[in-house]
Amino acid sequence: VTAGVWALHTTGSMEDANVHLPALEAAGLLGISEEGGVATLWFAERVDALPVSGTWEHVGDRDWNAEAHARLQPVRVGAITVAPPWAARAGDLVIDPGQAFGTGHHETTTGCLAALQELDLAGRSLLDVGCGSGVLAIAAARLGAGPVVGVDTDPLAVSATRANAEANGVAVDVRLGSAADVDGVFDVVVANLDTATLSRVHTDLVARLAPGGTLIASGISRARTAEAVGALAASGVPVLVRPGAEWAVLLGRRPV
Ligand SMILES: C[S@@+](CC[C@H](N)C(=O)[O-])C[C@H]1O[C@@H](n2cnc3c(N)ncnc32)[C@H](O)[C@@H]1O
Repeated sequence: VTAGVWALHTTGSMEDANVHLPALEAAGLLGISEEGGVATLWFAERVDALPVSGTWEHVGDRDWNAEAHARLQPVRVGAITVAPPWAARAGDLVIDPGQAFGTGHHETTTGCLAALQELDLAGRSLLDVGCGSGVLAIAAARLGAGPVVGVDTDPLAVSATRANAEANGVAVDVRLGSAADVDGVFDVVVANLDTATLSRVHTDLVARLAPGGTLIASGISRARTAEAVGALAASGVPVLVRPGAEWAVLLGRRPV
């Protein structure tokens, strides 16, 4: 039980709020709950200049964490259901939404989860760049990929991916760093990064792709899709663009 928690009652849904998840998390978001299609965002302190507006309420001694947890719903993408431990059923991909990005709810994550399920991953090596909670690496391992390597520049993401992989009983080799810190090439590289980061590291991503290998890149806002497409084309990987509501997924293949 925590005293002094602030709730921002928005007028939009949890899905609307999820569009801004990276910015909200950077602002100290503790959790999101939804009731009647309307989302409440939880913070330790009142925050100004958020990308989401609403009405603030100071919540006293309520167990906000239990409430937010109780309402965080599992999300289903194709044959994969991603669920928090307290709502997971047998067969679900269990992700403890700690401090690392990737509960499975964000459109950039669901786009990658859908794209992964379109591939035959059995026995294919896979690198997840910016693994966050590990959701994509773990999904890939469950789809038969191996070996699976995950990298992230955030130590919290590295420990979250390790813990989540273990909880799901799959092997993911997790390392602190980025694509440039990994040796060798992979049949599949999946990278859910923001456009600015993608523009910086695209040559490293392509360098980790085996000839004929598949690249799945997400985290690209629709407004910056052309920039990302140009960067990858310049690295020798022409891509197909799959636009979502706010974010695009880019699918490419390294020429043999
Ligand atoms: C949008 S999250 C994606 C998390 C998860 N893969 C998913 O799809 O839900 C992006 C992650 O990339 C990490 N990151 C940022 N810059 C990076 C870089 N240059 N190399 C590797 N990881 C990076 C962040 O720490 C964050 O965990």
